[in-house]
Amino acid sequence: MFKLVMDPGKEKGHIAPEIQGHFSEHLGRCIYGGVFVGENSDIPNTNGMRNDVVEALRNLQIPVLRWPGGCFADEYHWKDGIGEKSSRKKMINTNWGGVVEDNSFGTHEYMELCRQLGCKTYINGNVGSGTVQEMSEWVEYMTFDGVSPMAELRKKNGSEKPWTVNYFGIGNENWGCGGNMVPEYYANQFRQYQSYVKNYDPNKKILKIACGPNAQDYEWTETVLNQCHKLSGSWNNAHGFMDGISLHYYTLPYDWNKKGAATGFNEKEWYMTLSKTLFMEELVTKHSAIIDRYDPDHQIGLIVDEWGTWYDVEEGTNPGFLYQQNTMRDALVAAINLNIFNKHCDRVKMANIAQLVNVLQAVILTEGEQMIKTPTYHVFDMYKYHQDNTLVESFVESENIGLEEQYMVPNLHESCSKDKDGKYHITLANLSCKESYDMAVCLLGNTVSSVKAQIVSGKMDDKNTFDDPEAVKVKEMTDVKAEADQIRFTIPACSVIHLEVTL
Ligand code: AHR
Repeated sequence: MFKLVMDPGKEKGHIAPEIQGHFSEHLGRCIYGGVFVGENSDIPNTNGMRNDVVEALRNLQIPVLRWPGGCFADEYHWKDGIGEKSSRKKMINTNWGGVVEDNSFGTHEYMELCRQLGCKTYINGNVGSGTVQEMSEWVEYMTFDGVSPMAELRKKNGSEKPWTVNYFGIGNENWGCGGNMVPEYYANQFRQYQSYVKNYDPNKKILKIACGPNAQDYEWTETVLNQCHKLSGSWNNAHGFMDGISLHYYTLPYDWNKKGAATGFNEKEWYMTLSKTLFMEELVTKHSAIIDRYDPDHQIGLIVDEWGTWYDVEEGTNPGFLYQQNTMRDALVAAINLNIFNKHCDRVKMANIAQLVNVLQAVILTEGEQMIKTPTYHVFDMYKYHQDNTLVESFVESENIGLEEQYMVPNLHESCSKDKDGKYHITLANLSCKESYDMAVCLLGNTVSSVKAQIVSGKMDDKNTFDDPEAVKVKEMTDVKAEADQIRFTIPACSVIHLEVTL
C-alpha cells in the first residue's frame, strides 16, 4: 500500500492556466494540413481552420498558443504573410525540410485561429535575421488602435480593430538556430529589441519573454538575467525589461544522434525516457534558484515554451517534418511534466508542449481528412481541471524502480489542486510498466463526501491509429472507495489518473 497525503490546509499558489499551453510552428504538417487547410478545402473548415481539430482543442481549453516558431521565427518576416494570398511571397523553410512556405497562414490567420480556440496569443519575434524596425512595426500592426502606417495597413487587410498580443518572445533559441549568439551579446540584443515592443494600450500590457537557456545552460540564465532583469524606467514596462525567460528541454530516450523509436521500444527505453523527463524537475529548480536571486518577488516567469518527447521520425516520412507516433509512454511524460509545472507554479507561469498537431509530442495527428487524439491529448484532457486552481501541498510515498541504476525512477508521481468551487483535483501517474499498486489517498482529517475518478491506461506502447483511434482514451474508474478521510483504489501499471474530490 502506498500513501498519497494531501493537506487541504496548505495552499501554495496559483496554477496559471498557461502551464497547459501549446506551440505551433511552421514545421512539417503542424500548421498546413494540421490546423489550416484553407477555405477551399474539402475538409470541413471555418475560415480555413479544420473544424475537427479546433473542436478537439477547444475541449482541452487550450489557454495559449505560441507561434510562428521555433527556429522558423528567426527567419520569419511577417510582412510576407499579410495581404492578398496569391501575391504573398514564397520562401524556403530552411530549418524544416527545405520546403516552400507560401505564407498563406500569417498574422491574420493566426489571430483567427486563436479566436476560434478562445486562447491567448503568444507571438515569437525575429531577432536572428530581423530588424528592430520590423519587430516594432509588427507590434504596431497588431495592437495599435489609432492612426499610423501599420494600423492603416492592417485595416486595409481587413482587420479594422487591433488584436490582443498577450506574450511576445524576443527571439527563439538565439544560442542556436536564432543567431548562434553568446549570452552577453543576446542580452544586449534583448535590451534593444524589447525597447521597441511598445504597449500601445496600457490596459493590455504585452508580456515580454526573453530567450532563455538550452536545458542546463545555467550560465545563459545567469548572464541574461544579470544584464536584463533591472528596471528600465521606461513608461511602458512596470517591472523591468522582461516578464519571463524561456527554458527549452526535450526528452530523448538516447541523444541527439540516435534519439530512439517512438513505438516498438523496450522496457529499458521506457525507464530511460521517464528518467530523462524527470530531469525537468532539476532544471526548473536550478533555473528558478538563479531567477530568485534577481527577482525575489517572483515577477519574472519561467516560461517552458518548448518541452516534450523527441524521437526518430516515423519511417518513410520527411526527416525535416518531425512526425512521430505517440504512446502511453508519452502520456506518462505529459503527466510527469504537468505535475512538475504545477508544483513549481510559483515560478513556472507558462509551458508550451511541442507541438500542437503532427509534430513531436503532438496532442493530435491528422491524415488527410482523418484526425486522431493521442494518449498525450487524453492526459491534457484530465489535467485541464487543474487550470487556474490553487496548488495544494501533497506528497506521495514511492519506491525507486527501473532496470539500470542510472535510469531509476520513482514508481508514483503526483500533484494536487483546489478549484474555484472548492473541489480538489489529484493527478497521479504510475511509472511502472508492469506493477499495479494499492493506494490510500489521505486527506488529513477531512472527510470525503464524494469522489469521481478518470483513468488513461494501457500497455507501455499502446497508441491510437487511424484504424483504431480509440485504443487509448479517458475512461471512468469505478473501483474507488471513499472511507472517512481516505480514498482507496488500485492504480494499474502504466497509467495516469485524475480524482475529483469533494470534502
Ligand atoms: O520544436 C522544434 C524545434 O526545436 C524548434 O523549432 C526549436 O526552437 C527547437 O530546437
